[in-house]
Order: sequence, then C-alpha cells, then structure tokens
Amino acid sequence: MPFTPFALEEWQSRYEQTVTHDLADSGCHPVGLGELLGDDPEAIQRLLAIALHYPPVGGSDTLRGLIAAWHSAAPDNVLVTVGAAEANAITVASLVSPGDHVVVMEPGYRQVRGCALNAGADVDAFPLDPDHHWRPDLDALERMVRPDTKLIAITNPNNPVGTILTETEMDSITAAADRVGAWILADEVYRGTERLTDRITPSFWGRYDKTVCVGSLSKAFGLPGLRLGWLVAPPTLMDSAWRRHEYATISTSKLSMHLAETALAPATRDRLLTRNRTLIRDGYTRLQQWIDASDGLLSIVPPDATALGFVQYHLNHASLDVANALRARGNVLVSAGAHFGVENHLRITHGLKPDHLDAALDSIHRVLTELTRGT
Ligand SMILES: Cc1ncc(COP(=O)(O)O)c(C=O)c1O
Repeated sequence: MPFTPFALEEWQSRYEQTVTHDLADSGCHPVGLGELLGDDPEAIQRLLAIALHYPPVGGSDTLRGLIAAWHSAAPDNVLVTVGAAEANAITVASLVSPGDHVVVMEPGYRQVRGCALNAGADVDAFPLDPDHHWRPDLDALERMVRPDTKLIAITNPNNPVGTILTETEMDSITAAADRVGAWILADEVYRGTERLTDRITPSFWGRYDKTVCVGSLSKAFGLPGLRLGWLVAPPTLMDSAWRRHEYATISTSKLSMHLAETALAPATRDRLLTRNRTLIRDGYTRLQQWIDASDGLLSIVPPDATALGFVQYHLNHASLDVANALRARGNVLVSAGAHFGVENHLRITHGLKPDHLDAALDSIHRVLTELTRGT
C-alpha cells in the first residue's frame, strides 16, 4: 500500500526556516512565555520549582478539568496529547481498519484524510461549496455516507476557509452519522478564533454518543510551541485511544501541562482569546484591503473564523507553482490551494504583527504582478 505523505506539513517543514516572511503557519503571532505568565513573579517561581518527572500520562486532574469545561464534558472524557496532531492520529488509529469507509470535509487540513488512507481506508470528501460561501454540501454528504462508513471527519471552524457550521448544519452531519452508526471526529482547534462574534463556536460534544472532539492550545490560544492538545471521547473510545497514546508518546511534557493549566485558567484564557482575536480581526482587515486593491487579481469569501485567508487568484498558474515563485522570488512562504485539495488559491496567514504582515503582502503583490506580466 503506498504511503500518503502529509504534503502541507512537508512543505512547511522544508521551507519555513528559509524565508523572511512565514505566512504558512496556521495560527497567530505566538504568545511569549512572559506574556503567558503575565510577568507575575510568583508564577515564575512556581515554574522554576517544577520537578521534571514524568507527568500523569493522560494529563493532570486540574488540566483535564479545565479542558472538560471548554467542551462542557467531564474530566474522565479528556485525554491530553502532544498537540491535536497526536489526538487526530490516535483517533484514526483507534477507529479505522483496512477497507473501512471514511468521509472527510474538503477543502481541509488533510491529516485525518492521510491517516485514514494510510490505515487502508476508502476515503471520500464532501465539499464546502465555494459558490455558496463555503457552506457544506449536505446533500453530497448524505449521498456519500453508506452502511460501512466508519468515520465522518469535520473541522469546525474550518481550516483553510474559516466556515463556522450552523447548529442546523451540525445536526444534519450528526444525523448522517447516526443513520449508519458512524463516528464523528470533530477537529475543533479553531474554536475561539471567531472574527465576527465573541460567541465561542459550539462544540460537537454532547450531540451524539459516537463523537470525538479534538482541541489544542496551538490556534485560539497562540501557544503552538507547547505541543499540547487533547481529545474528548466517550469511555468506549477512550481506552483504545489511551493505549495508542502510551505507545506513541507516553505523554506531553510536564512543563507544557503546567503552562496549559495557566493558559486555560479562566482569567488567562479570556486574556489570550482577546489578544488573538484582536490580531485576527486587525489582520483580516489588512488582508481584505490588500485584496480590494488588487484590481480583480485576487478575491476571497470572508472567513467566519481563524487567522487564515483562503485567497483566490485569477491567473492561469497551478497553486504550487505560484507558492514556489512567492518563496523563491518574494521570500514569503504561503500554503498552496493544492495542499487542501483546491486549485487557484493560496492560504495566507494574517494574524500577525501589522509591519510583518504588510511587508509580506507587498512582496506577494510584487511577485504576482510579475507572474501576470509573464516576467
Ligand atoms: C485543523 C487542524 N487540526 C490539527 C492541527 C495540528 O495542531 P497541533 O499544533 O495542536 O498539533 C492543525 C494545525 O495546523 C490544524 O489546522
């Protein structure tokens, strides 16, 4: 069976250290350690006093409680992992066997798709429809789901297009799964990155018994370097995910768990969400102005959430060629539409410091103009 590589992550790993402007990362400008601790001397002392032993492998009780509160779940439903990346991988490993049918949402972050293909599954994708503001094509989902469908994987809010599902859409997806007894894997790492409202996107948790929700400190909280994520699952799945977690990583780090307890404590949590939403809202305004000034070369369906713009370019070039030209000639790394299963788009991260973002957008504009002129 051929191995399906994770093209997006390979692209980022290969090139992110080689450019001046990295607009391919999918979160906001990261939070510094001092900023997380609020420059509080007592918090710094507590950090320095930590004994670097193995932590509780599934997460400390305090941390599991804080994560449970984020999803309105119980602490026993929470397993702390090395990022959402591990949570997605061990969920697929727990649920998917060779020959199973898996349905994913596209455009999408293609981790679950790749893990399912590598587990020998037959994978179909149901679209978010660009002609309908990237709303999910639920009729397509309904047609696709079949008696041997084991898993329906969605990302809400979506990466790369930023769609937030309505309650009605969530109910339809749940009903499609329930009809055949499939599991739902709801990747919810972008909850908390809403652009137009302060209301946190509802979680899939509690709507249907065969649901796994995945979360992380990497996006809404601005702390990807902690490599701390989680899954929220019913007991039937928890045992099997936990076993795989012990094989793969044993646990995330003690320091990360301690800092995650700080990040998710209510006062810090709200401070971090506000900080990152401000970056997202300001960054998107700058991105939109830049697109408006492009004389029809660029367009976008405004995203509901995330620090990402999925920008369409009206040029007859493959997205990987354009992304390579931006990298080589413009010193800017963006992700190509092809990395998400859609051509003629670039995913541009905008939740960054204004100077950094503006300089990078200028550089992208210069290279795109050269490509338009054929130079
Ligand atoms: C939808 C989605 N899920 C999971 C991940 C992995 O996140 P983490 O940094 O928590 O491993 C990403 C990272 O970009 C993502 O976009």
